[in-house]
Amino acid sequence: MVSENIIEEIRQRADIVDVISTYINVIKKGNSFVAVCPFHNDKNPSLQISRSKQIYKCFSCGAGGNVFTFVQDFEKISFIEAVRKVASIIGFEHSELNEPVRKVNDETKDVLFALNNACELYSYVLNTQEGIQASEYLKKRNIEEDMIEYFSLGYCPSDGESSIKLLRGKNISIEALDKAGIIQRNNNVFVDRFKGRLIFPLFNEYKECIGFSARRIVDNDEAKYVNSINSVVFNKSKVLYNYQNALKEAKKEGYVYITEGFMDVFSLYKVGIKSSVAIMGTAFTEYHAKMIKKLNVEARLCLDGDDPGQHGILNMIPLLQKEGIKFKVVNYKDCTLDPDEILQKYGPDVLRKFLNRLISHDEFIFQYHLKRNDVSTSEGKRVFSNLIIDHLKNENDFVNREIMLKRLSDITSISVDSYLRMLGSISHDNQEEVYQSSDIHDDTSTNSANRYQRVQDKIIKLMLNYESAIEDFNNGNNYFNDKLYDDLANYIVDYYSINKNMKISDFITYLSKIDNDNSKLLLKKVIESQDLNETDPNYSKELMNEFLKELAKENDKSNIKKKISDPFNGLTNEEKALELQKYLERRGKKNGIKEK
Ligand code: UTP
Ligand code: MN
Repeated sequence: MVSENIIEEIRQRADIVDVISTYINVIKKGNSFVAVCPFHNDKNPSLQISRSKQIYKCFSCGAGGNVFTFVQDFEKISFIEAVRKVASIIGFEHSELNEPVRKVNDETKDVLFALNNACELYSYVLNTQEGIQASEYLKKRNIEEDMIEYFSLGYCPSDGESSIKLLRGKNISIEALDKAGIIQRNNNVFVDRFKGRLIFPLFNEYKECIGFSARRIVDNDEAKYVNSINSVVFNKSKVLYNYQNALKEAKKEGYVYITEGFMDVFSLYKVGIKSSVAIMGTAFTEYHAKMIKKLNVEARLCLDGDDPGQHGILNMIPLLQKEGIKFKVVNYKDCTLDPDEILQKYGPDVLRKFLNRLISHDEFIFQYHLKRNDVSTSEGKRVFSNLIIDHLKNENDFVNREIMLKRLSDITSISVDSYLRMLGSISHDNQEEVYQSSDIHDDTSTNSANRYQRVQDKIIKLMLNYESAIEDFNNGNNYFNDKLYDDLANYIVDYYSINKNMKISDFITYLSKIDNDNSKLLLKKVIESQDLNETDPNYSKELMNEFLKELAKENDKSNIKKKISDPFNGLTNEEKALELQKYLERRGKKNGIKEK
């Protein structure tokens, strides 16, 4: 753990202009500094850096923040990694910054010790006479020396007892071997669960061995792979094979392939792609999605081309979307092989090209269902339409949605309008109209919404620039109805009450560490409030009071509107019926229907 004080000290010692200059070319312009913005496709220097405020802001794409957010976004690393990075750039040293010492309890420590010793032992055995059959198997599958080392492959002696004896000799207890899932009881003797098998060690993000998967090396009717059972350190649905390497490689490449099995990871490695993981034959889980999210790069889905593989991709999509992960799908078209089989059959060039045949998830879903439905029949059209419409219900990109609907319409000859109705967007619009036409409020709601937002923005801007504004806000009975502003105001007030000051560059650090779904938007509001060109004028209490009065007025309006938008709120059933009748009458009038 790096303490708040240390983080603040690093922030204060680091000069933002110097640090950014180590990444991009910074030009001095008068009293300020500018650069070509690295966060969008910039041609002119749109990025401004303020030495006095210690923040940066791009007036073109809106990116902005302090020294930590710059390094974090530039290097695509976590906040705490950015803190370490900045410390190393400015040559700041502190014991708290050294590699985190992982704290684990005694039981976990024993289990990890057993597993990591077993891992070393197996990999040693592979190179001995005992491992000759496994070595030959690897040769047959074109797995060379460098890969054996890179993936720490091994072999478990076939007698099932010598490995246990050797581990016992290292003072590892039977209990620890049992908890680690290495031994199995067989007629009152303990034998190695993985005996006679090729060993694929499984690692966590700290590169500690947490379990094994072991493949048979002869063709028989035993299970192809035997896996570790769940333990204090191992859970199959929380492991991604090769994740420990992907952590580093993904950052270099900007992508990570997600495959089904070990052999696929190996095949990708053989064609020069080290940034890949495998789900080890299980379903992709929410936990896996969180691990992928951490890599912060484009995911490329490459499960097998057969039905289970392609269906697996279909199931992964909502999980990735939920985490907000950017991803593409490798287009298998009609190929039902896996990457390993493609490599064997067609060679490295074809596999490499194949892996770069990437399509969007929309395209994937479209093709997936099109292939599995006969759209020449009306029943097939109906089913296919429903499947695509169901998917499009979660599509927020309206242009994309339109394009998909057009394609759907071309295939089925059902009109785009009908599809829009199926999507519910037409009936939804009608509903909006109900509230607007309820003749209670006259100004169009967008106008008043804008006015409301403007006054909230003005107050937030003053609070972020003047400490007195925070006090004035806090002393009165003031609040924001919009959640984003309300959150931000609370953070400002909290920060100010702890620190007794409002320093934007440090407040940004404070926001960076907050776990809030909207933290990106909050940061954007903060950056918007900052003017890097001029020195700020003095605080005007009168202006603040004026804004606060306006806010109170807008709050009242918004509270009333909230009540109106649920017109039945607080009514008895009889009153509700009466209201409904009145509403229908109004509607009848509006539509030109005569009352009797
Ligand atoms: P595959 O059957 O596709 O294995 O299962 P593979 O990786 O291509 O291996 P080869 O080419 O047949 O040697 C995909 C993954 O499912 C898990 C393994 O992790 C495997 O890599 N699996 C498979 C098991 O855990 N147990 C099994 O019996 C089979
Ligand atoms: Mn396979």
